[in-house]
Amino acid sequence: MERLPEILNAFEQALELERELGTRTVECDRALLLPPAPGETRSCASVPVRPRGSAALPTGTTGVSPVEKTGTTGVSPVAPHAALPTAAELTACTRCDLHGLGRTHVVPGQGNANGPDFMFVGEAPGADEDRQGLAFVGAAGQFLTKMIAAMGYTRDQVFIANICKCRPPNNRTPSPPEMAACVPYLKRQIALVKPKCLILLGNTAMRGLFPDMFVRRGQWHMYGGIPAIGTFHPAYILRFDSAHDAAGLRKAKLEVWDTLKLALARLGKTPPAIQKKGQTT
Ligand code: URA
Repeated sequence: MERLPEILNAFEQALELERELGTRTVECDRALLLPPAPGETRSCASVPVRPRGSAALPTGTTGVSPVEKTGTTGVSPVAPHAALPTAAELTACTRCDLHGLGRTHVVPGQGNANGPDFMFVGEAPGADEDRQGLAFVGAAGQFLTKMIAAMGYTRDQVFIANICKCRPPNNRTPSPPEMAACVPYLKRQIALVKPKCLILLGNTAMRGLFPDMFVRRGQWHMYGGIPAIGTFHPAYILRFDSAHDAAGLRKAKLEVWDTLKLALARLGKTPPAIQKKGQTT
């Protein structure tokens, strides 16, 4: 019982973040809200997330729909889970059709889950990621590794995740219902990992997290109190044929780099000096 104030505080913070993310009802164990009545059997209750600044959470709220809905995505059964989505949980997921469309492994995402400076969000696993169960380990991932290194970080220091956790067949773009079905997992990751800044890689990541608004590359938006900025997906950069469109490639790379510098600046950081070959610090 000693830790009760701490637990309640963390719970309230989690609810506040859910509220900012658009959640209006969450499932919680009633034990967190009420001392047990004599002979009471514990069960799950749904609790409305109170508007900011209003009175304390109502105690003993019961009988509300166990599934909450957010924004216009319509599908978001988010509960205040204490843990990141695991491969086991995602493997059992049937919220959309992707589980039955030939994926080999689910790809939860990986990296520093403890308040990293940056969380990178991509689209969905490709063939390499599907084989290994890890995000961004193929060619696009190698380019992402270079982007991260140019910012002065290693992959282990940031968190890397995707909008969809299963590979769509033939690497097609995930459909809006697939994205809406999967994005609650990402929301949970964001809520628990608590990155200081979100970097959204490509249109799918931008649309997935901001389904109701047009997000322009290189412009800041707030996602549940976390600054978020979008840029090109690494795979887009890799599609340029440098022999035939060196100028286009350079322009796209510069735009990405400008956005990464904006993200660093947002946290009061500057990119490390470029090391020339053979130079030591
Ligand atoms: N593309 C993505 O969007 N995500 C990955 O994990 C790999 C490629």
